Amino acid sequence: MRFILHTYGCQMNVRDSEAVTALLEAAGHTPVQREDDADLIVVNSCSVRAKAEDKALGKLGLLCATKRDRPDRRVGLMGCMAQRLGAEIFTRVPGLDFAVGTRCAGAIPRLLARVLAGESGLLETTDLNEMPDVVEAHTDSGHAAFVTILLGCNRRCAYCIVPDVRGSEYSRPAREILAEISALVRNGVREVTLLGQSVMNYGRTNPVWDASDAPSPGGFTEPFARLLEAVAAVPGLARLRFTSGHPSGVTDQLVRACAALPAVCHHLHLPVQSGSDPVLTRMRRGYSRADYLDAVHRLRSAMPDFALTTDVIVGFPGETADDFEATRSLMNEADFDNAFIFKYSPRPGTPAAAWEDDVPDTEKMRRNQVLLEDQDLRGAAANARLVGTLQEVLVEGPSLRNATRWSGRSPGNKIVIVEPIPGIAAGTLVRVRITRAAPQTLYGDVLPC
Ligand code: SAH
Ligand code: SF4
Ligand code: F3S
Repeated sequence: MRFILHTYGCQMNVRDSEAVTALLEAAGHTPVQREDDADLIVVNSCSVRAKAEDKALGKLGLLCATKRDRPDRRVGLMGCMAQRLGAEIFTRVPGLDFAVGTRCAGAIPRLLARVLAGESGLLETTDLNEMPDVVEAHTDSGHAAFVTILLGCNRRCAYCIVPDVRGSEYSRPAREILAEISALVRNGVREVTLLGQSVMNYGRTNPVWDASDAPSPGGFTEPFARLLEAVAAVPGLARLRFTSGHPSGVTDQLVRACAALPAVCHHLHLPVQSGSDPVLTRMRRGYSRADYLDAVHRLRSAMPDFALTTDVIVGFPGETADDFEATRSLMNEADFDNAFIFKYSPRPGTPAAAWEDDVPDTEKMRRNQVLLEDQDLRGAAANARLVGTLQEVLVEGPSLRNATRWSGRSPGNKIVIVEPIPGIAAGTLVRVRITRAAPQTLYGDVLPC
């Protein structure tokens, strides 16, 4: 079949979609770019907010409607919403051919074969306590790839559906991760991002290093710092990132590893959610405002160029005007390079869903807007400070907006636009002198090697 995947949600879903693409290709199916050309469409869904589910449900409804004119077309669902809704999805989306949960995406080629043999409405969700099925295959994803190292989440923040749909934490063996990254690098990947919901928890809930593994040259005893060191040593890998962070993971060893390993980019996505201690406590985040700012301080003291991005939830139950102002001031103190602001959305079955969603939507929108405007100013100032600096840029290719220019990313994960020079190629690291800054983008000249 000719197939296409539509991916919603976080990088974990992007990574799972890549794995499913590779599996479908291995089973003899062909990826296509345009939905019109596809006989099979799979939606990879997210449940983190009601809006994310509405989007996927709307898309699935439209796709299933097209089956009237295209009876050979098949539509499938994977990801967090499939895991959350289970069999209910087939009443919500009549005509859906199959749905698979988060830890069994590897079942898709098998289910598809049954669908092609005439079955429909097939469901496979995982018992999230069972050993996960980690699909290792990858497509050629260009020069940057995601590698999931830690599945699930054990934190259970009061608002969050992720532990229910992704299960409890399981850290993949280090040896398996290193083999996967070596294979990616052999296929041309230059930059890897290690993924986990609380990625620095890697190796804290199950053993990941074997007695027969080589000892850490830098003397790292914490499993995650040791993994960073081992991945950074994979020959041919130019850059290493990891996401998402949690302040409890910003240990002395982590800071030392980031500062000492040249491949590790000086950037971390460190979601704060709120700057108010009472709200952080009700959210069950496991840190205070002071703990968070301490983690920021320790990263920036060791690496003054360290870029930080974050997530914030506005309108959490009981969030007062003072709580909100505390978030505003924390964002200023932490001086974030970028921030994603979300309006609180109650998720069924989470502790916070039992509490009154008492901040009116208009007020959530106002708070959202205020934080966005603050962040625009802060982001513009942070970018302006980079004018005149030298940045190492991983070239991605011609810019989407203007193909005569090329774009790439700085270690701080900022988009950098350059005039191409002869011999410039996607996947190379170049040195760029930054000449101009816009709020979301930097511009500069490539220096000769
Ligand atoms: N594991 C990551 C975040 C995963 S979800 C972490 O803990 O940092 C991505 C973001 O969605 C969260 O950081 C949070 O800001 C937001 N989010 C999660 N649940 C939400 C909800 N119920 N309503 C609004 N935003 C939510
Ligand atoms: Fe959700 Fe909290 Fe886990 Fe992040 S750490 S995935 S916000 S429960
Ligand atoms: Fe969404 Fe699932 Fe990621 S709920 S944020 S796609 S883990």
